[in-house]
Amino acid sequence: MKWLNWVLVRFSVLGALGTVALAIFVLVNLVAVAMGPEPAVANGLATQAVPEPDPATSTAAPGSDDPAGVLLAATETTNDATADLAAMHPTIDPELIASLEAAFNNAPQRSDADIAEAQARAAAIQAEVDAGMDYQRARYYPLHFAPAIETASNEECLVCHQEILDHQPRSASPAGVSTDSTFAWYQTLDTYEGPQASFHWRHLESDYAKNVMNLECVFCHKGNDPREESPYMVPTRAAGSAPDVPEFTNRKMVNPSETCLLCHGAMPDPIEIMGLGAPWPETRLDMEDEETINGCLVCHGEYGFRTSRHNVSYLNALNIELTAREKSDTCYGCHGGRQWYQISYPYPRHPWPDMDEEVPEWAADRPTQSKPEYQLPPIPVE
Ligand code: HEC
Ligand code: HEC
Ligand code: HEC
Ligand code: HEC
Ligand code: HEC
Repeated sequence: MKWLNWVLVRFSVLGALGTVALAIFVLVNLVAVAMGPEPAVANGLATQAVPEPDPATSTAAPGSDDPAGVLLAATETTNDATADLAAMHPTIDPELIASLEAAFNNAPQRSDADIAEAQARAAAIQAEVDAGMDYQRARYYPLHFAPAIETASNEECLVCHQEILDHQPRSASPAGVSTDSTFAWYQTLDTYEGPQASFHWRHLESDYAKNVMNLECVFCHKGNDPREESPYMVPTRAAGSAPDVPEFTNRKMVNPSETCLLCHGAMPDPIEIMGLGAPWPETRLDMEDEETINGCLVCHGEYGFRTSRHNVSYLNALNIELTAREKSDTCYGCHGGRQWYQISYPYPRHPWPDMDEEVPEWAADRPTQSKPEYQLPPIPVE
């Protein structure tokens, strides 16, 4: 049984090494815990929760008259029957407005009861913070993880994270290049207003964002682990396991392929999929003029291709259609104009009236419905 001995010895050596490693690991962590966070940070929580109003930073970025933080509940809506859409969109034919209204819905607004409940839960968190919550407890606050995060409201997250809406980008790069002298390609789109703002502000607070989208913290943040930063090591599930589509990807705070890619992908293949002769910046020159300000609508207008679209709770589908008739980059913006990727999102392919029965090859694997968690009730098609 020499081989067995050999195996046993190997294993005990490995085991001993493992124990030593574990001991060192535990020790390092104990020391880290004992040292604790920098006192300034530990005490900083209360200041973070109730930021001192700093005139230089705490006003909303230009372009909005809504002070940062008086948030989200105030989102303007145009999908209720009382809104005078014709007055709000004087350049659009009122008949067209009526037909768009019948075919597209904005995301439903929260009820007063829902808002009151969210505010009450936020007040309860605030009370816990005021009673004295240390940095580590706040950092591992259960709201950060499944299942609590699934139903968290913006109000609750903002009790501790108001700072993300107050941040301002640098006015100059570390090397001294001033922001005024630079211009990103996506700032050339006619939807873009004001100087560069913070990432969160631009998605949650700008007038344009509130008009076309209805994003919540938990649309992007579905839980993450501040220590391992891996979806396979989160506090609330067995080590090594993660769903097929993880809530976030390694070292990131979100899953970019399920969030950013939706609105920052490349334009879906203009040649193969849309039958255009060339990429959009070239094609549009022949398609757009003063009459037809948005060339996408030549094929995606009322009777075009893929007219059942955007019926999800994180978009304002009706406002998108209205804005698209006023701004030429509305559609292109989310479908190629501010792309961070070489690829585009494989969108679901909802059936539309006059759709060809035959499924093109590129669409063979496509779902025909939006993700269930975001689906809104279907709109009857005439
Ligand atoms: C009780 C206070 C509190 C609440 C409520 C709270 N957080 Fe946090 N969160 C913290 C603290 C403290 C940290 C650590 C911040 C740091 O180190 O700068 C943190 C860190 C984070 C981070 C960065 C994690 C990392 O990997 O570094 C994200 C993202 C985040 N929170 C999102 C949220 C979201 C989304 C919500 C609501 C679902 C939420 N938080 C609710 C206190 C809170
Ligand atoms: C459009 C997607 C998206 C939405 C919506 C969103 N976040 Fe984030 N958030 C991100 C990404 C991506 C990062 C990572 C940024 C980075 O690494 O600098 C981040 C970072 C953070 C951080 C870490 C601190 C920092 O500045 O890096 C906190 C805290 C946070 N988000 C809280 C929130 C809260 C609270 C809300 C809702 C009011 C929210 N986020 C809404 C995508 C989003
Ligand atoms: C539902 C659509 C949507 C999603 C999801 C989304 N964005 Fe955006 N993003 C937008 C829109 C709309 C704008 C604003 C464009 C404008 O104002 O012209 C924008 C603007 C930006 C800007 C410009 C900020 C500025 O002020 O200059 C950055 C950077 C950005 N997004 C990154 C991201 C990242 C990273 C993610 C994923 C974590 C993400 N976005 C997810 C729609 C989205
Ligand atoms: C010449 C007509 C034409 C023009 C112009 C056009 N498209 Fe398309 N588009 C199509 C066709 C055809 C399809 C595929 C229909 C199908 O599913 O069979 C399509 C599909 C799409 C899809 C879904 C792609 C996918 O992978 O599921 C998006 C998004 C889209 N178009 C956006 C746009 C935007 C934004 C513009 C303007 C920048 C635009 N289109 C201009 C004809 C056009
Ligand atoms: C704020 C970002 C945004 C804007 C603006 C926008 N889209 Fe989209 N679009 C999306 C997202 C996100 C989806 C995927 C929704 C889903 O999963 O059902 C999508 C899906 C689509 C699809 C796939 C439809 C299907 O079969 O489900 C088409 C086609 C499309 N968009 C065309 C357009 C056109 C045309 C416009 C302008 C009228 C436009 N988009 C404006 C974000 C946007």
